[in-house]
Amino acid sequence: MAFEPRHLPVLAGLGLQDAQARRVTYLRISLTDRCNYRCTYCMPSEGVELLPKPQLLTFEEIERLARVFLQLGVRRLRLTGGEPTIRKDLLELVARLAALPDLEDLSLSTNGELLAEIAAPLRRAGLQRLNVSLDSLDPERFLRITRRGRLDRVLAGLDAAACAGFVIKLNAVAIRGFNDDELGDICRFAWERGMIPRFIELMPMAAGELFVPGELFPAAEMRARIEAEFPAAVLVPATGSAPGWGPARYWRLEGPGVPARAEVGLITPMTEHFCDTCNRVRLSSVGGLHPCLAHDDATDLRTPLRAGASDETLLEVVRQALSGKRDGHWFGIDGQGGPQKAMVSIGG
Ligand code: 5AD
Ligand code: SF4
Repeated sequence: MAFEPRHLPVLAGLGLQDAQARRVTYLRISLTDRCNYRCTYCMPSEGVELLPKPQLLTFEEIERLARVFLQLGVRRLRLTGGEPTIRKDLLELVARLAALPDLEDLSLSTNGELLAEIAAPLRRAGLQRLNVSLDSLDPERFLRITRRGRLDRVLAGLDAAACAGFVIKLNAVAIRGFNDDELGDICRFAWERGMIPRFIELMPMAAGELFVPGELFPAAEMRARIEAEFPAAVLVPATGSAPGWGPARYWRLEGPGVPARAEVGLITPMTEHFCDTCNRVRLSSVGGLHPCLAHDDATDLRTPLRAGASDETLLEVVRQALSGKRDGHWFGIDGQGGPQKAMVSIGG
């Protein structure tokens, strides 16, 4: 076989790199494919076929794989789902992961439904940051988009999380005709509480089945809408300020009458790609390593793990998988080109 640089995804001292020399420093770990909500853009109304529980990685298996990824240069872990807070004994897992040497950041993405009860214990267990989904501040709209969510529960959860000392980002999927009139209100809500609002472009997951092209609210319109809500203020790129190593690009609102740290993150996979700076990979709840959210390619890590593979073998399997990480995605704004997998199975 002819030598090509891409056959050497890991170079001494550079950590885990993919074929485009992007350094992979961030692993998202899905703890379950189940969720207590049914957000319309994430899950079909009938739900999706659920994976049998014995297929889920155990905490021991998750910790073992986390150690392998840390050896390869990953420094940040995020727990996702489905809804990660419904995984039994989550606190135990958080404590185990928080104790891993070399880990710089441990965070969790949640719908917030259970935060009122578990925010303080999660913080005590060593979790550092939270991303909470909040698509609307109107209870009726919130119920409509989540199909079963109660806004008052999430707001109580956010209060508890703020009291517990978490750094919190609020994620709203911006949807034309649904919440595009709330962008300013969500910003104000977040800023008043010291949280960072982020708006996400709707993505055509699940083979576009849950995607309505007219509902896409592009980044440029998001910015125009936010500026229109704050007359005389302008959005300027915020470099290196908001804490975050993910795909969001941060903007700062500047002008009269604007709060001091008025920053907003935009996650814009549809109209302003960020694939060339992608630093992340995903582990599904059953141990599939997904190098890209937008493709169905996955490498099964559970089989070698359960067959007693050594650390060296696992390291090699992960390196191989990474060498196949795609350059980018080709989501079409018409909803074509997305993966078969639903968001609920991989957690964003
Ligand atoms: N498009 C964009 N964002 C989505 N999310 C779930 N499904 C989609 C989709 N199809 C969001 C959730 C959550 C984050 C992890 O991903 O609302 O905030
Ligand atoms: Fe659950 Fe999050 Fe999907 Fe909503 S977006 S159904 S809260 S996993």
